[in-house]
Amino acid sequence: MCGIFAYAGPDNCTKVIIDGLKSLEYRGYDSWGIALKTRTSIELKKNIGKVSEIGELKSIKAKAGIGHTRWATHGNVSVENSHPHTDSDKRIYVVHNGIIENVDELKDYVHGDLFYSKTDTEIIPKLIARFLQESTFPEAVKKVVSLLKGNFAFVALDRDSNYLIAARNGSPIVAALNDGNFYISSDLQSLVHYSDKAFFINDGEMVIFNLANTSIEFYDFFNRKSIQKEAQLYDIQFADCERGNYKHFMLKEIFEQPRQLQKTYAVNVSDFDIRFHYALDPEMFKNLRRIVIIACGTSWHAGLVAEYWLESLVKIPVEVEYASEFRYRNPVISDDTLVIAISQSGETADTIAGIKEAKQSGAPVLSICNVPGSTITRISDATLFTQAGPEIGVASTKAFTTQLEVLFLLTLYLARFKQKIGTKDIINYLKNLAEIPEKMERVLAQTDQIVSIMETHYAVSNALFLGRGVNYPIALEGALKLKEISYIHAEGYPAAEMKHGPIALIDRNMPTVFICIRDQSYEKVLSNIQEVKARNGIVIAVANDNDRRITKLADHVIFIPETIVELSPFLTVVPLQMLAYYIADKRECDIDKPRNLAKSVTVE
Ligand code: G6P
Repeated sequence: MCGIFAYAGPDNCTKVIIDGLKSLEYRGYDSWGIALKTRTSIELKKNIGKVSEIGELKSIKAKAGIGHTRWATHGNVSVENSHPHTDSDKRIYVVHNGIIENVDELKDYVHGDLFYSKTDTEIIPKLIARFLQESTFPEAVKKVVSLLKGNFAFVALDRDSNYLIAARNGSPIVAALNDGNFYISSDLQSLVHYSDKAFFINDGEMVIFNLANTSIEFYDFFNRKSIQKEAQLYDIQFADCERGNYKHFMLKEIFEQPRQLQKTYAVNVSDFDIRFHYALDPEMFKNLRRIVIIACGTSWHAGLVAEYWLESLVKIPVEVEYASEFRYRNPVISDDTLVIAISQSGETADTIAGIKEAKQSGAPVLSICNVPGSTITRISDATLFTQAGPEIGVASTKAFTTQLEVLFLLTLYLARFKQKIGTKDIINYLKNLAEIPEKMERVLAQTDQIVSIMETHYAVSNALFLGRGVNYPIALEGALKLKEISYIHAEGYPAAEMKHGPIALIDRNMPTVFICIRDQSYEKVLSNIQEVKARNGIVIAVANDNDRRITKLADHVIFIPETIVELSPFLTVVPLQMLAYYIADKRECDIDKPRNLAKSVTVE
């Protein structure tokens, strides 16, 4: 979603900010803009479309600037609605991420002012300008933040004073200061080129940078007092954020999965014993009778897989909820319920709201997250980190499989805690888990087979994905991957439900992708395949190595190595990610930044 990047310092401001915005592109956006402070004025440049489409922007001599990528919420995609926004005097310029909910009420403070955009943001510079009549710029910003309702992170630039100010309440923002160069970004990854340390700004905090003496101050606007803050080292490498020789980040991330799984395993398991990297306090589980998993998108699919594992191995009831529904449903939660929140970014607004709801009901919250320092990790009682590394492609791949790995380790940990499983079984499960990366490599080696399937079917308009048991969520994930990056309509279903609706769609033009591994439903899924073939449908099957029966039935088969059924999702999902990728590439889609989608959905 919207991205903010601001800079003050001696370097070429235009370039630093445009590079910063490019590094935020993956979050998803439809328009962009920058404002640059020269000696006497502020120069503004805004446009719809992509920053990368502008070519080289003429650099102007500036000492500070703010930039923004906008994902439209209030007001359509237009130059007027893109940020930065300003006041009538064109003195204050603001870029903003989030939603200001009380704009109508706030308009009373700026009675008579004309609004040029349909955004909620424009009120912020106008209010700051209004309070500047009686205060300094930092004091005016402090007054404004005390009036705003909703989630926001914004940066304000003043033409007439030497301050660059950012404030946060609900939307992420980080800052870095390195040798007189000051950076603010909505995303830690975009700072990796400039500093290995960052200030993590919390809700209710402002950061005030003085351009004249390059000093930095922090202010807590909830408690109205100055605060001290130390920059913290963070562990993201430059190479992690580069595309390398891959055509798209998504492809790189698909192929990185074995390595990231090994890393996630290595930090959490030693000598076949689960010792989570960030030790869990067993107190959290002492009343455990029920688990509720909340998440959105692909992370929700990881939760659905975990439901099978947790119920069969820990033997306690599990519900998996869309975070957006959970928070508005008056859920019955008590202190014997463990709430597990799953999020790659740690910034998804609905998941954050769901965690807050759970905490109010007294439930302990354990999050599974990929981004250290993110909001979700800060508000949860404990966090288990996936070691996926930065995920840039909007369509989640390596975050998903590392989430699965952490969830499987958590399942074993809880099963042992609840004395439902012995050491021998745990070792056996861990041995199988440790073999997954090598088996996944073998799936990844089948690019040629997947590309040839793609060549035959890339032009279809609809596709159906079917699986059963622990692979039903993988059917949902396969359908989601295809639809989000190739814009082909795709649906995932439990295979047995085919006869209750989707079978009506089958014809010679629509492929049905079956996940048909040798598990307890194998024979039944084979029957479903026959039912599709009897109606002249196209069948693409993901099946275990050497499955001759499938070869005779399906039009195409992608083989995966054998593993225990519980762990099969790690292997069945990979060909579906690859198929979606190669189809989208053939259709010349913008794979890493699909239209209308955002990597991190920071509004509700
Ligand atoms: C967006 C992304 C998806 C992601 C979902 C949840 O829709 O495009 O890839 O699965 O948000 O995000 P989270 O960061 O909470 O896992």
